[in-house]
Amino acid sequence: MTIQGTKIRRVGILTGGGDCSGLNAVIRAVTRAAIIQQGIEVIGIEGGFDGLISNQTGKLTIKSTKDILTLGGTILGTTNKGNPFEYRTRDGNGDIQVKDCSQKVVDTFKLLKLDCLFVVGGEGTLEIGYKFYKKGIPVIGIPKTIDNDLEKTDYTFGFQTAVQVACDAMDRLHTTGKSHHRVMILEVMGRNAGWIALEAGIAGGAHIILIPEIEYNLGNVVKKIRLRANGGSPFSIIMIAEGAKESGGQTVKAQGAKERLQGVEKLGGVGFYLAKQIEKQIDLEVRTTVLGHIQRGGSPNSFDRVLGTRLGSFAVDAAVKGKFGTMVALKTPDVVLVDLKTLAGKVRCVSKSSQLIQCAESIGINMGRKAM
Ligand code: F6P
Repeated sequence: MTIQGTKIRRVGILTGGGDCSGLNAVIRAVTRAAIIQQGIEVIGIEGGFDGLISNQTGKLTIKSTKDILTLGGTILGTTNKGNPFEYRTRDGNGDIQVKDCSQKVVDTFKLLKLDCLFVVGGEGTLEIGYKFYKKGIPVIGIPKTIDNDLEKTDYTFGFQTAVQVACDAMDRLHTTGKSHHRVMILEVMGRNAGWIALEAGIAGGAHIILIPEIEYNLGNVVKKIRLRANGGSPFSIIMIAEGAKESGGQTVKAQGAKERLQGVEKLGGVGFYLAKQIEKQIDLEVRTTVLGHIQRGGSPNSFDRVLGTRLGSFAVDAAVKGKFGTMVALKTPDVVLVDLKTLAGKVRCVSKSSQLIQCAESIGINMGRKAM
């Protein structure tokens, strides 16, 4: 939707879903570009869409967004429980109640006299943003997630920082694994996409990389460890994505995780599961490290700072041009606009026949699908 001739005076910005490094770079860029280029007022909405349900907002200024470029997390706060169309709360008995609070969001948007809403989020948050666009809110999406699983953009910000963190962890596991002659397993996030595991695994010199897109065969994994040991390297480094599963098996759900209000199951623990399987077959010690939220926290790397800044600045430009119902996206070397509609409900996974996987296998990395 292009609204010609509508003067943008005041915009809102919210961050939704799991946090990642680079969110504050976007908030800063939106605020600065809006104020410096266009004299537009910027309202920060707290806690994702929840802030529009409860009207918890505050003005963002050049001063209030100073020094946040390098800061991890989001100064606005976020939640991955807040879908206003299916808002979940617990009643007095502890039972989950679901109700539609979307009209409250629309009402607050109007009350605040906003002309545009910047929705910074991953696939779930952007889908909600699209629903609000269909309800009449002029929305522009900005893609984030460490998982890098969004269609139509080369990268989401947050991903490269997470890859670097995972790569650094691999380097550390390498030295201790080699010293002790152990099999070291590193479990990383990514939900049902293997991007973090694949890129950080290649960067960190993993011998075996297991991702959700390729069900692994235990025999192939064990064979690789044996081959290495017989060849004079009695240690192996395995990178495994939390969503990886054994051929014919199930994904491993986090043990003891509290029932989540939003109804999304939490993954976690496949690294320990794999360790038990390997230990039964091989006379080497196996150790598992679960990297967890360390991948999401902390300062963004330079790539994510630049990407976040570019996306934020471009989003303001799109708002001024009335290009609503869109998402800003990286199509190297440019930032472009894509239709939010084409993204709804879609997740981008690693293609089994991708060059990246071919590259990994060509240099002898075992992806769990071949005996090599
Ligand atoms: O989507 C980002 C992500 O970090 C996934 O990689 C992971 O599965 C999930 O969020 C963890 O969610 P939570 O922060 O709720 O534990």
